[in-house]
Amino acid sequence: MPPVAIRVNQGAAARKSPTPHRGLFITFEGIEGSGKSTQARLLTEFLKISGFVVVETREPGGTPVAERIRDIFLQTPKNTVDSLVPETETSLVLAARSQHVASLIRPALAKGAVVLCDRFSDSTLAYQGYGRGLNVSKLQGFNRFATQGLTPDMTFLFDLPVPKGLARRRRNPNQNRIDKEALAFHSRVRKGFLALASQQSRRIHIINASRSEEAISRQIQTLVEPILKRRLRAKQISRAK
Ligand SMILES: Nc1ncnc2c1ncn2[C@@H]1O[C@H](COP(=O)(O)OP(=O)(O)O)[C@@H](O)[C@H]1O
Ligand SMILES: [Mg+2]
Repeated sequence: MPPVAIRVNQGAAARKSPTPHRGLFITFEGIEGSGKSTQARLLTEFLKISGFVVVETREPGGTPVAERIRDIFLQTPKNTVDSLVPETETSLVLAARSQHVASLIRPALAKGAVVLCDRFSDSTLAYQGYGRGLNVSKLQGFNRFATQGLTPDMTFLFDLPVPKGLARRRRNPNQNRIDKEALAFHSRVRKGFLALASQQSRRIHIINASRSEEAISRQIQTLVEPILKRRLRAKQISRAK
C-alpha cells in the first residue's frame, strides 16, 4: 500500500487545513498506574457497542515484532552488561513504533477505523526525554522519523500523584523494569507529560485520574463524541457492517 500523505497535526498550517487523514487516532498517556489500559478498554467497549470499527493497540508493541521488542524493553534486568542505556531504550521504542505505525495503525486509519493506542510518541518525550534526560527536541525529530509524521488526533493524559499511581500498580505482583524505577524518575515523567500538555493543549486533554473509573470513562466519552459525529458526517470514519 502506498504511504498515505499525512500532515503533522500541529501549527497554523495544519489548523487551517481539513482533517488530515481518515479514521480517528486517539492515544492514552500517563505515568504507571494512571488508568490508561483500563480507560482504553472501556472506550473500546463503548465504541464497539456504538457500532464503530475499533482497533485497540498499545506501545511498545501492537505487532508481533514490536511485541518482541516490548519484551526486551520491559523485561531486560538491570545491573548486567545489558542494563539498558537511554539511547538503547529510545532506539527500541522507535523501532517498535515504526513497525506498528506502518503495518497496523496507518492501514487501520485508511479503512476508517478508530484506533486507540495505549501510549505513543508522547511517552518517548516524557520517559526518555524528561525522565532519562535526553534532548526533547531531538526526540521529537526521531518520533517524526518513526511515525512518518503521524500525530494523534486526540490524546488523553491521565494525571495523578506518582505515589498513588505506583500504589495502584504495585497491587500487581509482576513489576516490569520501568515500574521499579525510583519515585524521582516517575515524578520527572509526570512533569514532562504536563509540560507537553501545556504546549499542545488543543490535542492533549489532561484527565484527573484520581477519580472513579466510571467518572473518567464518562468524561472521555463526552470529549470523543463531538469528534466522532463530525468525522462520521465527513465520512472519514466507518460503521461496522
Ligand atoms: N480510576 C481508578 N480508580 C482506582 N483504581 C483504578 C482506576 N483505574 C484503574 N485502576 C486500577 O489501577 C491499576 C492500574 O490501572 P491500569 O489501567 O493498568 O493503569 P496503567 O495502564 O496506566 O498502568 C489496575 O489495577 C486498575 O484496575
Ligand atoms: Mg497499562
